[in-house]
Amino acid sequence: MTKSRLLERNHHEHSPIAVFPGSLEASRAVAAEIATLIRARAREGRPCVLGLATGSTPVSLYAELVRLHREEGLSFANVTTFNLDEYYPLAPAQPQSYRRFMRLHLFDHVDIDPARTHLPSGTVPKPEVDAHCAAYEEAIRAAGGIDLQILGIGRTGHIGFNEPGSPRHSLTRLVTLDPLTRRDAAGDFGGDAATPRHALTMGVRSILNARRIILLAWGQHKADIVQQAVEGEVGPRVTASFLQEHADAVYVLDDAAAGSLTRYRTPWLIGPLAEQGLAWDERMTRRAILWLAQRKQKPILKLTDDDYNEAGLQDLIRVHGSAYEANLVGFYQMQHTITGWPGGRDPARAKPGDAPVRPLRAASAAVFPKRVLVLSPHPDDDVISMGGTLCRFVDQGHEVHIGYEVSGAGAVSNEAAWRLLAFVRDSGLANPAAAAKLGQICTELAGDSTKPAAAELLRWKGLIRRHEAIAGARVCGVPESRLHFLDLPFYEAEARSRRYGPADVAALAALLDQVQPHLIYAAGDLDDPHGTHRLCLHVLRDALAGAARARAPWLAQAELWLYRGAWAEWPLDDIDLAVPLSPQEVLRRRRAIFRHETQKDQALFMGEDRREFWQRTEDRSRRLAQAYNNLGLAEYEAIEAFKRYAPAEFAVSTAF
Ligand code: F6R
Repeated sequence: MTKSRLLERNHHEHSPIAVFPGSLEASRAVAAEIATLIRARAREGRPCVLGLATGSTPVSLYAELVRLHREEGLSFANVTTFNLDEYYPLAPAQPQSYRRFMRLHLFDHVDIDPARTHLPSGTVPKPEVDAHCAAYEEAIRAAGGIDLQILGIGRTGHIGFNEPGSPRHSLTRLVTLDPLTRRDAAGDFGGDAATPRHALTMGVRSILNARRIILLAWGQHKADIVQQAVEGEVGPRVTASFLQEHADAVYVLDDAAAGSLTRYRTPWLIGPLAEQGLAWDERMTRRAILWLAQRKQKPILKLTDDDYNEAGLQDLIRVHGSAYEANLVGFYQMQHTITGWPGGRDPARAKPGDAPVRPLRAASAAVFPKRVLVLSPHPDDDVISMGGTLCRFVDQGHEVHIGYEVSGAGAVSNEAAWRLLAFVRDSGLANPAAAAKLGQICTELAGDSTKPAAAELLRWKGLIRRHEAIAGARVCGVPESRLHFLDLPFYEAEARSRRYGPADVAALAALLDQVQPHLIYAAGDLDDPHGTHRLCLHVLRDALAGAARARAPWLAQAELWLYRGAWAEWPLDDIDLAVPLSPQEVLRRRRAIFRHETQKDQALFMGEDRREFWQRTEDRSRRLAQAYNNLGLAEYEAIEAFKRYAPAEFAVSTAF
């Protein structure tokens, strides 16, 4: 990481940060720094001691280090490593063990001496844990201390497994995992019940003892906690904040993970926009006005010059002349996001005086009916996230297709699978050989509900979810012939090791070419704890880039709209399209969500929110309607919101 990559620090930021357009570029820069360090030490005939992390974040870093080893001769012969943590109890051969993770992603692919790779052991007997932890500290000391420590950050703000409350002086020890951390890990362990409650982790002090620290964070789901760690108070509530006290610790972020920092979220608080190379364009103006209205708890049109001045927004008043003028700009921007005709109106039924459908702007605005392609990462994201809008498209006469991207098999509990498979087994419809096979699966499921899923079982689970999706789409009026099950291959890998490739992109590209959509709706929900949505978005981006290269004629007419999933809503200032729903539509959406029975009361990926999906969806879309109303806009029962991208621009953006 060259110094030039560091951003000039402002008074909100208490740690240095480097921000890259995407995680791959960031990983390459960090890998280059590691390589330089290893080589420098090798030249001096000295060992290089690295502190390593696991989890989804450093996967791209390790891939780059492996590439440097294979293609550029980087040797790890002089490298000693200490990993931060390990689940406890857990055997090293278990698929979820961090020892196995490290072998899979790094150790087995480079020339490192296995004897020099250290991880806390998940198998030491309980009475020996303290001695084991003390020996781990001693081993770090004996190796000369850690030269460079790599960290990720958990959504609790943890580094290593130093959950909130871990003191500054903590050393390697046995800890209890935070419920949020356990829920994030539940996908790897096949459910909450099988997820360990404890871990062995290096302490805050052991980490801060490293001579240099690089904390990596990718994705929007890390943005808020990164902001707290970098801009908040130092203390055990967010243990990553202790990095503020380190003389050489840097945060390496992608755009999305940096998104909540003041410099990006509310840059007017830092100084005049012009001095930051920014301008009061439409988006920034709206963001500031909405921020002010929410802060003052006032409708937009009631904001006064004093309100603007007190909040440090004199600059905005200067641009618009008065609060009155600025308010109108903000108000109409929000007003124009609302339409009950997300695909435009049928020109044959147009009446004089109909308001224009403003949010649509592409060359397809006049096309009616439109081909609409809704991409649903999991089989229930379509109805959970945009079930009301989906129904509207159908009712308003558009040709709606739904592309289900992954099978979602991993989120069917063994219990739910057992119930349905036992039904098929006992139905008498299965031939004897199939019935015997089902019988065997049912016996296994009944005996050990945490047994890792075998391929055959996963196939059944995928089928169960497929039929739930068909039933859900039926409620919305989308026929089976317009449902496309892509079963993207990246989903077959273990959750933490999932990476997409050409086969995934080709499958989606083929669907785009087949449907030639005017409107594409996709999940822009980057908060899903298992990362599938993020990968699906990457796949879409690459497929669109391919279509742009091939000059696919449909692309010129296409618009891309991103919806958020079950975990979060778009911030108000990001919304480009708001589709209001009537109370009846809310109920119909609920019925569609109910078709996903395996996800109803025992979904494996609930996240920190224990409400069922239909409840979250309703609460979220009602809250959004309320927020619009609070701003002084019309009062609706519920609203579904979307953010617009030009497909071609999206294809070159690496923000995800
Ligand atoms: C892993 C570790 C953890 C992770 C953190 C982020 O060794 O110590 O602190 O770095 O939980 O995990 P991911 O990268 O999966 O989001």
